[in-house]
Amino acid sequence: MGLVTTKEMFAKALGSDYAVGAFNVNNMEIIQGIVDAAKEEKAPLILQVSAGARKYAKPAYLVKLVEAAIIDTGLDICLHLDHGEDFDICRKCVDDGFTSVMIDGSRYEFEENIRVTKEVVDYAHDHGVVVEAELGKLAGIEDAVKVDARNATFTDPEEAAEFVARTGVDSLAVAIGTSHGAYKFKGDPYLDFERLKEIHGLIPETPLVLHGASTVLPEFVARCNKYGGNIPGAQGVPEDMILEAVKHGVCKVNIDTDLRLAMTAEIRRHFMEHPEDFDPRKYLGPARDAIKGMVSHKIRNVLNASGRQ
Ligand code: G3H
Ligand code: 13P
Ligand code: ZN
Repeated sequence: MGLVTTKEMFAKALGSDYAVGAFNVNNMEIIQGIVDAAKEEKAPLILQVSAGARKYAKPAYLVKLVEAAIIDTGLDICLHLDHGEDFDICRKCVDDGFTSVMIDGSRYEFEENIRVTKEVVDYAHDHGVVVEAELGKLAGIEDAVKVDARNATFTDPEEAAEFVARTGVDSLAVAIGTSHGAYKFKGDPYLDFERLKEIHGLIPETPLVLHGASTVLPEFVARCNKYGGNIPGAQGVPEDMILEAVKHGVCKVNIDTDLRLAMTAEIRRHFMEHPEDFDPRKYLGPARDAIKGMVSHKIRNVLNASGRQ
């Protein structure tokens, strides 16, 4: 048990019919809900920390909470930096004990993305840490619809192959139509599976990463709205599309929005049904349980990862 890199997890998942869930964490209850589900399901696990989460919780807290989760559960867990924007934050996280970092150079032109990614890869590999990079831009709600926009923003397969060869990156996040948040599609959901297959065909040894992969479970959206929330028209990636992506090289599936929705839905319900409560444990406890239930569902039905750790 301990903090591990994704090397072994991805080696097992690649070419297999399951993916590793990468869940965003911001506080103790979120971490506990996720790890308890992963333990029960015997699933491989990545806990990821964004720059915003690091700022919110302060750098030391989340690392120590993840270490505590390992002691408590006996699981192997990868601690990953999500969307590191530059060398500096990646270096800090490597130095703080993260076992994986993402350098997100997707806002740069190809050559600059290669340059910043290579800089991080050199530093991280020297310290036994693995690196995820991103090529292409995650779609806005309109981009998946128009062919021109797709070609301009989605990952180019030839470029992906060149990028991996020149940077030595360990895994690659691809843009095929997903986007962050609760509003992923206006009409019918669309992911560019032909593009994904082409990328996977050119770099079959490279684990691919799907960002923006929350399914936006209708049950939690409905519960939020029923108990005073206002998130109409939320739509995520259908579960069968995630399962399809997993067949074509996707080894890491990023989930944050679904955690936020599960937690918020439960807290909203609790406040409405128990207006007399003011002990945070009374509503954070059920919120933690809701996260655990949602993550178990994901591991079993969307990631197909039960029994893989
Ligand atoms: O990809 C973004 C994640 O959902 C993290 O979001 O930057 O608000 O923590 P955040
Ligand atoms: P969601 O917003 O779909 O949960 O995506 C999270 C993500 O990609 C984190 O990097
Ligand atoms: Zn992301």
